[in-house]
Amino acid sequence: MDDQQFRQLLQYLGFSWRGYRKVRKGVIKRIRRHMHQLGCQNIATYLYKLEKSHGARAECERLMTVSISRFFRDRKLWQILQMEILPGLIETHRQKIFVWSAGCASGEEVYSLKILWDALKESIPHLQELEITATDLNPVYLERGMAGVYPSSSLKEVPEQFRSAYFHTKKSMELYEIKPSLKKGIIWQTQHLLSGPPGSLFHLIFLRNNLLTYYQDGFKKPAFSKVINQLSASGFLIIGSHERLPFERTDLVPYGSLSYVFKKRGG
Ligand SMILES: C[S@@+](CC[C@H](N)C(=O)[O-])C[C@H]1O[C@@H](n2cnc3c(N)ncnc32)[C@H](O)[C@@H]1O
Repeated sequence: MDDQQFRQLLQYLGFSWRGYRKVRKGVIKRIRRHMHQLGCQNIATYLYKLEKSHGARAECERLMTVSISRFFRDRKLWQILQMEILPGLIETHRQKIFVWSAGCASGEEVYSLKILWDALKESIPHLQELEITATDLNPVYLERGMAGVYPSSSLKEVPEQFRSAYFHTKKSMELYEIKPSLKKGIIWQTQHLLSGPPGSLFHLIFLRNNLLTYYQDGFKKPAFSKVINQLSASGFLIIGSHERLPFERTDLVPYGSLSYVFKKRGG
């Protein structure tokens, strides 16, 4: 499959060339293997197969996913979460705090938040419960998230005091396992962002490096609106540090100095 054929596939699926350009090599490899398994010699027969078989299409979409992530990705964001956003939410909402990590990959972002929450217990007595809904269309990534075992490369931005307090090493320092107590309060769910979000309101939504990067406008705009409908008044939306909102929303106000953090009006 050359770039021209890959672009045809992206077009068919509603994906963006700009989003896939840098990561395409690995993705093309997986798609070639899938074509071979289905006995497709060229892109035309492959697209025909995807059109006719729901299973083939779902598998193709799964193979198109890119799981690149790491703990505390975009370090400044996590500092602002720790110093301002989480203490603010804790202060305003006396009950349980609900968070949605949409397109969570293998849980790196989910456990980063759990670590901050746990660390806050030291300074905030009687901290309320935190419930995180962690969704992704690829169930293989979710299984990895549930297992909570990561290579050292995923931890390169983890501060040393967190590394020693929240992970233990496996197999001569090559793998790190998250502390079992951090696995509580997480609902892992296979879910496609284009088919609609989980049906409840969230105080904080992470929508980073997935919908807004990999999809064409015509697909991401309606899906984005549905995501925002799940954000509670005064709730926070965090997108990827290199991403932009797909259209202006008067109910989303930029928050603080980071261009990728927004607060919803109201409340
Ligand atoms: C590059 S990772 C980003 C992970 C994490 N949010 C971060 O920023 O580090 C993108 C993840 O989004 C998921 N994803 C992509 N499109 C999706 C969709 N339509 N519905 C649900 N998950 C999706 C992929 O499976 C992958 O796990």
